[in-house]
Amino acid sequence: MPFLPIELDPPEHSQFRKPLQGWFSMSRLMALQDDIRGMVVERLDSIVDLRCADLCAELAGPIPPIVIAQLLGLDKSHWPVFRAMAEQLVTAAERGDSAANIEAMGWLFTFMAEQIAMRKNEPQDDLLTFMSQLQIDGATITDQDAIGLALFTLIAGHETTTGAVGSMLLHLARDTAAQQRLREEPASIAKAVEEVLRLDPPVPNLARTVTREVTVGGVDLVPGDRVLLSWASANRDADAFSEPDTLVIDRPSNNHLAFGTGIHRCLGANLARLEMRIIIEEVLARIPTFRIADEAEVVVGGVLARGPRVLPIIW
Ligand code: HEM
Repeated sequence: MPFLPIELDPPEHSQFRKPLQGWFSMSRLMALQDDIRGMVVERLDSIVDLRCADLCAELAGPIPPIVIAQLLGLDKSHWPVFRAMAEQLVTAAERGDSAANIEAMGWLFTFMAEQIAMRKNEPQDDLLTFMSQLQIDGATITDQDAIGLALFTLIAGHETTTGAVGSMLLHLARDTAAQQRLREEPASIAKAVEEVLRLDPPVPNLARTVTREVTVGGVDLVPGDRVLLSWASANRDADAFSEPDTLVIDRPSNNHLAFGTGIHRCLGANLARLEMRIIIEEVLARIPTFRIADEAEVVVGGVLARGPRVLPIIW
């Protein structure tokens, strides 16, 4: 199954990507805002009196796949199993457990196929229906392509956002002065989000395959060569960022590459930023000064995307 639109080159790439862009515009995503905040608040209310929690298990892990379920238009009754299978996909990849990986991917593929078939008979006002009815050159795309679009939305938006939210919470837990600052100046939260994305981009690298002869930085490349684009390295380029290894909330400009650049630049950047902002706002509003419970228990990892996996916090 192709992962669309990321595996396509022009002109096919823009035929798939352009029609989807409206679904990821800030104005459209604002409709999800209250529901995301509601979920975050409910989870925080259930742990606030415990005075300790693994914030990956409580927030960074579960919120992103549920938001994607909602974005696609899945019925609420499907969210728990969808989330469980999405999480199994991530953890199985990390453990190198290919049986669990295949089981999760098989379930998600079959489920998406059923959901898309259902929407073909009974169209709904949702992203999955839109994907299943997408027309290119006057013909509706194949079911396989519609499934590829839907599953890539999950794969692109789940572990990445989990990593970003986890890194944000990790930085704040280690820096109580930054917490204090953001509590007093909530307007700076958006800048802090960008700075964490710069310092710890959840997608550190992505590969490309060269399609024509070209010279980049004095290196001659030929078709078929593989090139690793390191967003993480670019984000710490001392020519572009002063104090590149330090979290500086007030950077005058922060043109980081955590979401990539060029035609494949992340389609879900607005959604990821929205989730990060809402989670930080509500954590700061509902949890008093928090710290890492035990540095030795913090686990940072990931296969497709990098970030904390275990984040024991006390307050
Ligand atoms: C902090 C979270 C996220 C990060 C760091 C991230 C990062 C990236 C990166 C680096 C790329 C590739 C850019 C390139 O190759 O030039 C990408 C592409 C993409 N992302 Fe994200 N992403 C995040 C969240 C999301 C979310 C929430 C969604 C959707 C729900 C999403 C959907 C996509 C899609 C569809 C593409 C492919 C775009 C294309 O090929 O035209 N991403 N993302």
